[in-house]
Amino acid sequence: MTEGRLIVAIDGPSGTGKSSVSKEVARRLGIGYLDTGAMYRAVAWWAQHEGIDLSDQPAVAQAAETIPLVMGTNPDDPRVSVDDIAIDRQIRTSEISEMVSAVATNLAVRSTMKKRQRRLINEIAEATGGVVAEGRDITTVVAPFADARILMTASEEVRMGRRSKELAVDAEATRAQIVERDAKDSTVAQFLTAADGVVTVDTSDLDFEQSVAAVLGAIEASTSAI
Ligand code: DC
Repeated sequence: MTEGRLIVAIDGPSGTGKSSVSKEVARRLGIGYLDTGAMYRAVAWWAQHEGIDLSDQPAVAQAAETIPLVMGTNPDDPRVSVDDIAIDRQIRTSEISEMVSAVATNLAVRSTMKKRQRRLINEIAEATGGVVAEGRDITTVVAPFADARILMTASEEVRMGRRSKELAVDAEATRAQIVERDAKDSTVAQFLTAADGVVTVDTSDLDFEQSVAAVLGAIEASTSAI
């Protein structure tokens, strides 16, 4: 830990309960929270809003550089806004979920996001004493220096069930969309298997409380080893 600052990196595919568990862990530790997936979603939304064709990779990369994005970092209210407009609901539609992989697999966008996210992680940790940052490449690319690096997994069946409940949409449509998205996303980020030094927390047989406890335990074990 750097001078009392705790940086926790959590990666994993869709539907592991990663977002709700990460927020709760941040709450219990009294530190900030960063949802990096929401940043990719915001870029997809912004590109659409600005009439940018997602296949125009340089234009999307430019949008990722210039988007006036503000990430809320309070785990009780992690509001995402662009130009002072809250876009939390707009970035969770199935339309954006379908578009977002095209943004996330754009390597120039990833390079910009890495810098932005790393800077935010340090700023949040500085301001609140720590941060739980979640995504797909936080343990490996954005914050490999984190004090605790965790990969949350769950069986495919459990993940599909959780995600369709979360988005309140048809389970079969969700399954097809998520399988396709994870396959695309995993070509640019390693989140299906744990990298060296990353602790796996399998939540297949755990409820929410047990998942939170397992992640807190993994953080404790990682930090007491420092
Ligand atoms: O976690 P989510 O479904 O909100 O993520 C949205 C998209 O962003 C998804 O396609 C994966 C991608 N993503 C990424 O490539 N790297 C991250 N650190 C976070 C999300």
